[in-house]
Amino acid sequence: MGSICQQLSLFWLTIFYMLVLHTHKKGGMFVEGTGVNWGTRASHLLPPDITVRLLKDNGFNKVKLFEAEPYVLQALGRSGIEVMLGIPNDYLASLAGSVQAAEAWVMQNVSSYISKQGVDIRYVAVGNEPFLKTYKGMFQNITFPAMKNIQAALIKAGLGRQVKVTVPANADVYESSNGLPSNGDFRSDIRDLMISIVRFLQESGYPLTINIYPFLSLNSDPNFPKEYAFFTPGSSAPIVDGALTYSNVFDANYDTLISALEKNGFGSVEVIVGEIGWPTDGDKEATVENARRFNQGLLDRVSKNKGTPRRSTPPDIYFFSLLDEDVKSILPGNFERHWGIFYYDGSIKYDLLMPDGQKLVSAKGVRYLEKQWCVLSPTANIADPEIVNSVNYACSYADCTSLGYGSSCNMLDVRSNISYAFNQYYQYESQQKGSCGFSNLSVITKTDPSAGKCRFEIMIDVGKHDLTANVSSSAGGATLFHRGSANLFQGGAIWRTLATVVFGLLLWIK
Ligand SMILES: *[C@@H]1O[C@H](CO)[C@@H](O)[C@H](O)[C@H]1NC(C)=O
Ligand SMILES: *[C@@H]1O[C@H](CO)[C@@H](O)[C@H](O)[C@H]1NC(C)=O
Ligand SMILES: *[C@@H]1O[C@H](CO)[C@@H](O)[C@H](O)[C@H]1NC(C)=O
Ligand SMILES: *[C@@H]1O[C@H](CO)[C@@H](O)[C@H](O)[C@H]1NC(C)=O
Ligand SMILES: *[C@@H]1O[C@H](CO)[C@@H](O)[C@H](O)[C@H]1NC(C)=O
Repeated sequence: MGSICQQLSLFWLTIFYMLVLHTHKKGGMFVEGTGVNWGTRASHLLPPDITVRLLKDNGFNKVKLFEAEPYVLQALGRSGIEVMLGIPNDYLASLAGSVQAAEAWVMQNVSSYISKQGVDIRYVAVGNEPFLKTYKGMFQNITFPAMKNIQAALIKAGLGRQVKVTVPANADVYESSNGLPSNGDFRSDIRDLMISIVRFLQESGYPLTINIYPFLSLNSDPNFPKEYAFFTPGSSAPIVDGALTYSNVFDANYDTLISALEKNGFGSVEVIVGEIGWPTDGDKEATVENARRFNQGLLDRVSKNKGTPRRSTPPDIYFFSLLDEDVKSILPGNFERHWGIFYYDGSIKYDLLMPDGQKLVSAKGVRYLEKQWCVLSPTANIADPEIVNSVNYACSYADCTSLGYGSSCNMLDVRSNISYAFNQYYQYESQQKGSCGFSNLSVITKTDPSAGKCRFEIMIDVGKHDLTANVSSSAGGATLFHRGSANLFQGGAIWRTLATVVFGLLLWIK
């Protein structure tokens, strides 16, 4: 008798502790954790080991990658962070063409990382927004075959249960003819394809991944009611859709997809929000205040486990993005390089309260180049005809998007504008000798020229970091994280593979 009682109370004690510990760890009852996209299109990439610590310190337990980069995957090994691993669109043709190519891809990029490095890969995301209208059908015939070949390869590798296949689609794969979510359906030109894909996802128990950007709704339409982009009740009147009402564009957009799924008989397919976020520079609405408001509103929903009017179970979400990326294509807009919750160096842009109740913390152990800046020489004459060429040259390599209209450095006077461009180039070149040359128009200063919101950056020292082992084996020490503009097109909002870099910023200099 006694012993059964003891066993019972031990049982309840265990349950009690499990509940307490569980709630304590997660900070709220049902919080599953928060995901974030980790893009690597930066001239001075924050070292992967420091980045993984940054993720863990801030309670991000899921990460989405745009491709299999060895040094990133290695750093995620045994970190406890779940990985959604992307396959770039330019690989789709070969993966669709042969199962052997898919098997090789899975072997090299999934199996070995799981078994040897302990990387917790949960999803393979096949393609990246492959059905964007802007691609004019380029990837339409190859995405689904590639998904099926990757599935076959995963099953053959014994990973059929552990690793799921998904496709991250842009929100333009569905639409509503009258603007109401209840009228949602797949875009007419790809409707049959989407139904085939979604049937495949449902039968396999895989999720559909969708990228939703209220910022772009606001950015692309001057009449868009701004308050509707945020999650906090604002002045915009809610949209009434039958028995349901909508007070923000995220809910309306997401539920348009849910309606499309339900209408075609796939109401139970899981949906993941693969990218969502707000940039902090490069546009008049891309401000730190707006980004904080949007992301905090979204995090509060995550904490409350809040779904949408049409689907009460909330989706897993992956913020876009973790860090700023200064060599991304700016074809969609100057804001493309400023989606980070953190600056490129892992420092905080604004306070956020995470679902675990903690405030954001900056990256630890980051080393910087010397505290010195390249500026326009005080003796230089701004009428000097060399200035235009010098600034154009500097900004064709380095990131000058903060100088544009509505951006953080737009208020600078002409001399400071020029200094900003010179300094961006000098830092981009890691302060190398000669990179503050500019025909004798420039000088190096130890006084920080930053003014107001405009930060004159110092780059991180990619050579000095204590990199974890084997990082340098795939390339070579310092140059590994200084990649210039080798591949600008990854991650972010839209149109990214079409770009040739355009520089319209500096026409004001006469
Ligand atoms: C693994 O992925 C990387 C990056 O996406 C790619 O370059 C490489 O070709 C892939 N391996 C195979 C065998 O396809
Ligand atoms: C895709 O397939 C359709 C039908 O077979 C064909 O008409 C179309 O040209 C193909 N598109 C591309 C981009 O290959
Ligand atoms: C540079 O400074 C001028 C003068 O203050 C300002 O009018 C202009 O908007 C700035 N230009 C850019 C591209 O930031
Ligand atoms: C820069 O100044 C030095 C010394 O005054 C001079 O020798 C050199 O020719 C100048 N370079 C340019 C590009 O003007
Ligand atoms: C680094 O790579 C070598 C072989 O390439 C391997 O033997 C070693 O265990 C690796 N070290 C770490 C820390 O992964």
